[in-house]
Amino acid sequence: MAFRPLSIVLLSVIVAAVIYLIVFPDGYKLTEVFVPGSSSCASGNSAGFAKNQLPQAADEPVELRVLMGIVTVPSAYERRALLRLAYTLQPRPVRAVVDVRFVLCTIDKEEDRILVSLEIIAHGDILVMNCTENMNEGKTYAYFSAVPELFAEAPYDYVGKTDDDTYYRVAALADSLRGKSRRDAYHGFLTPCHWLPEKQYMSGMGYVVSRDVVEWIAATPELRDDHDDWEDVNFGGWLRKGGRYKNVYNEEPRMYDYWDRVMDADINCFRHEHRADAVAVHKLKDRLKWARTLHFFNATQGFKPSELYQVDLHNNIYKV
Ligand SMILES: *[C@@H]1O[C@H](CO)[C@@H](O)[C@H](O)[C@H]1NC(C)=O
Ligand SMILES: *[C@@H]1O[C@H](CO)[C@@H](O)[C@H](O)[C@H]1NC(C)=O
Repeated sequence: MAFRPLSIVLLSVIVAAVIYLIVFPDGYKLTEVFVPGSSSCASGNSAGFAKNQLPQAADEPVELRVLMGIVTVPSAYERRALLRLAYTLQPRPVRAVVDVRFVLCTIDKEEDRILVSLEIIAHGDILVMNCTENMNEGKTYAYFSAVPELFAEAPYDYVGKTDDDTYYRVAALADSLRGKSRRDAYHGFLTPCHWLPEKQYMSGMGYVVSRDVVEWIAATPELRDDHDDWEDVNFGGWLRKGGRYKNVYNEEPRMYDYWDRVMDADINCFRHEHRADAVAVHKLKDRLKWARTLHFFNATQGFKPSELYQVDLHNNIYKV
């Protein structure tokens, strides 16, 4: 009789050990995903967004690797969920890797520290920089200057930055960058369009620079304090002053602000309707604009009929 409690204890220990081995066969490696530069984030297989992307042809050589950082704030949970859908369901680039990551500054709220950590466990697609979120200065420098060291083991050929209201089409981006210079490259949408060429810079909707430019930024800490305007204006200024405004690739009209005919706005050099060869669409400020955009670019093509749901994808206010 006296042995019974002991055997229950023993049994519990054995059951717990078996569960542990089933759940964590590699001996609890979850902490690994917290390290931004670790293989789980930096590898060509691309954790996070690429998980469910359409498979790449086996053994295709990778000709270029691009890191695209989406600048956003910790509280933008719904937007991140939408962006993960948007990028996960894109066709993979051909012979290229485009790793899309969210970029945050130091997280100061308790709830965000915990909830963002959970996102990191689940998706492994967030970089947290040493900067302050509510300043309109410093985040761009913090991001670009951190990249060379974070990804020293597998450097990217190009590094980009974009907004959380922009939809990059990663295959189109990779095809556009392929064959372009890998020195002093500055790729995006030149603004103001067709005006003041000596003052133009790549619009904050999104831009990409070559690795040498990123390394130069990291090696030039005085740029951190060189700001008197919007960060993206200053970025163009840095390249001019540094003699790096050389291989400038303007992606107009393949990068543009969203427009549809129910909007109360005119078409112009930066805003027009969708085009099939788009590289990036900007000003996706609400769910309807995201929905129409994703539908236009055929993200819904994988939607299969089933007895489990009745959804009429073509019941739109107007045909896009
Ligand atoms: C973050 O940046 C600040 C100011 O640039 C610096 O004083 C501090 O040491 C940095 N912290 C870390 C952990 O690198
Ligand atoms: C979407 O798919 C349709 C049918 O396959 C095709 O005709 C159209 O060009 C595609 N649209 C884009 C933007 O690729």
